[in-house]
Amino acid sequence: MSEREGIYRSRLGEMDEEALSYLSSLAEDREILIDDIEGSEAHVIMLCERKIIPERDAKLILEALEELKEKAMRGELRLEGRFEDVHEFVEAKLIEKLGTEVGGKLHTGRSRNDQVALDIRLRTRKLLLELWEEALKLGEALLSKAEEELETLAIHYTHLQQAQLGYLSHYLISHLDHLLRDVERIRECYKRTNKSPLGACAIAGSTLPLDRLRVAELLGFDGIVENSIDAVSSRDFALEAISAAAILMTNLSRIAEDLIIWSSSEFDYVELPDSLASPSSVMPHKKNPCILELLRARTGRIIGILTASLTMLKGIPTGYDRDLQEGKPLIWEALKLASSSLKILAKTISRLKIKKEKLLKSAEESYAPAIELAETLIKHANLSLREAHKLVGALVRNLHQSGKTLKDLTLEELSKTAEKILGKSITLPEEILEKLSKAEEVPKLRLTIGSSSPEEIRRQLDERRLILNRLRRSLEEVRKDLLESRRKFEESLNKILG
Ligand code: ARG
Repeated sequence: MSEREGIYRSRLGEMDEEALSYLSSLAEDREILIDDIEGSEAHVIMLCERKIIPERDAKLILEALEELKEKAMRGELRLEGRFEDVHEFVEAKLIEKLGTEVGGKLHTGRSRNDQVALDIRLRTRKLLLELWEEALKLGEALLSKAEEELETLAIHYTHLQQAQLGYLSHYLISHLDHLLRDVERIRECYKRTNKSPLGACAIAGSTLPLDRLRVAELLGFDGIVENSIDAVSSRDFALEAISAAAILMTNLSRIAEDLIIWSSSEFDYVELPDSLASPSSVMPHKKNPCILELLRARTGRIIGILTASLTMLKGIPTGYDRDLQEGKPLIWEALKLASSSLKILAKTISRLKIKKEKLLKSAEESYAPAIELAETLIKHANLSLREAHKLVGALVRNLHQSGKTLKDLTLEELSKTAEKILGKSITLPEEILEKLSKAEEVPKLRLTIGSSSPEEIRRQLDERRLILNRLRRSLEEVRKDLLESRRKFEESLNKILG
């Protein structure tokens, strides 16, 4: 075997330089270097415990792997050379050090197919935990802001036209609820990701007495991907992780879009902290929401990644195909983009200045309480919804034409218009109309579950606090399990290392 042939090419001989550089995943494998080494260590511990390789050789291999890992952790292990990927690189380094007789035992009962599937699951698992953590932090930021702004009046929009009056806290809780579902998706996806494919070998398993469950246990997995064909072929856990990230980002992007609109001079409902805004190179007055715009654009990027991943997978034959290599960096990119977006949005929400006065002024000038007026007529003047809708529509048209708002509506005008539009004489208790004319009183009239009413908002907040705590506890439990299995892993490793 010549050096240029490497450790795999006894049949094929030296590989064409250009072909190797086209094919190699060495650069993107930096991300899984440590996972790859640890996966190898667990594999070797199992091979030794099952007496598939002698303890003396296992010890030498584990020592060499530990040395490589430490170097990698210090950032001193440069992934370079004529290698197809990190798997060939690590094995070649081992053989270089220990010779083929000993170093050549590392890959016993294993294929790069189950190995790479393992590495991806290990890496994705960590990235999902980071995403989970950051999503909870944004959830906490939204909840705290909602508590601070509990009765801050706001207009809720549909079609970006003023719809109903309510509270800013209600808006914030709506996004918190989105996010809580995102966290549930991440948690479910974590469960399906956290299964070990190792021991599937190339596709159909091994004639060696490998203990797949032991490797899974050593690496903190909740069991194995049992069917060996499934173990090497499947990437649906990754599709799920990217989908969860894409759905989450779609929600974040809508918050970003709201804040971009609300921070414009025309709306002026909120103000970004200066430290999170960008200037213009030429217009000295500018304060641009570039961070939020980038979040919006990066959402598009993640959607692109999801499309690329689904497309990459849909047509490949069952089993391992090299196409799968192309999917790896897409996973890291999507999950990291989503985590950093969560982080920056949490900061933005916590430091956001809410312009209460402006919000109140807009609410007071709004025709939004028209629906409450119609419902009042249903309750107190015995009108059908359709009659009330017709009457209030006509009232709003008249007020609008004369440059007035709902506050200016009088009982006389109401009964005069009812006479004209419905051919009925109606009246309302004076104090009810008065209540409707005060913007801050309107949300207090609401009776339904989940609505913008102060009691409902308080109840929703209390409940969300409990849900957030529960989701934080389940994250901590997952982390505790991983730490515990890490402890056992080190125990088993040290037992062989002596
Ligand atoms: N570099 C490959 C990847 O990232 C590793 C698996 C190669 N397997 C094979 N049979 N060629 O997917």
